[in-house]
Amino acid sequence: MIAIYPGSFDPPTLGHIDIIHRAMGIATTLIVAVAINPAKSLMFSPDERVEMLAAICKGMPNVQVTQFSGLLVDFARAQGAKAIIRGLRAVSDFEYEFQMALANRLMDDSIETLFISTNAQYSCLSSSLVKEIAKLGGDPSAMVHKIVLNKMLQKSAGL
Ligand code: COA
Repeated sequence: MIAIYPGSFDPPTLGHIDIIHRAMGIATTLIVAVAINPAKSLMFSPDERVEMLAAICKGMPNVQVTQFSGLLVDFARAQGAKAIIRGLRAVSDFEYEFQMALANRLMDDSIETLFISTNAQYSCLSSSLVKEIAKLGGDPSAMVHKIVLNKMLQKSAGL
């Protein structure tokens, strides 16, 4: 089964990586898809986010990393995917995720949304939190992969 794991990933956190590890055990091919989402205020370009995720997922044989724009269901259909993977961190995620899953299902009922509960250790994480900590001079090394940490340090230094 081909599955899509979509998200903004600005930047990817260890919570996202945990979901990738677990989803790659379920899917034959897992496509990690970086959304080009003009509505969000972003730190990294789509290419930078793809680059970081591809470097982290190097060595995961059934994981591909790419970017998409437009509707997720259209992208999923074009890839031949049967499932969309989403991580759930807490009850507060549920309403938004449930609404998206139902809307996607109304548009294409051949694609199922599968929810994976986040590892409790990472349930407090979000990309915004990581960015705020880094911006205020804190150390987010327990929250992101070292590839992401280095990229964030380079950004902060204006490199
Ligand atoms: N661990 C840590 N953090 C997690 C997480 C996990 N397992 N799962 C989600 N998050 C956090 C992210 O860090 C992010 O934090 P932020 O809000 O501070 O940036 C937040 O939860 C949600 O981000 P993400 O999972 O990256 O998804 P998103 O909500 O930004 O993206 C899309 C959602 C891309 C799937 C959705 O907008 C989409 O499908 N867009 C395409 C257009 C479309 O089809 N629209 C109609 C949809 S019905």
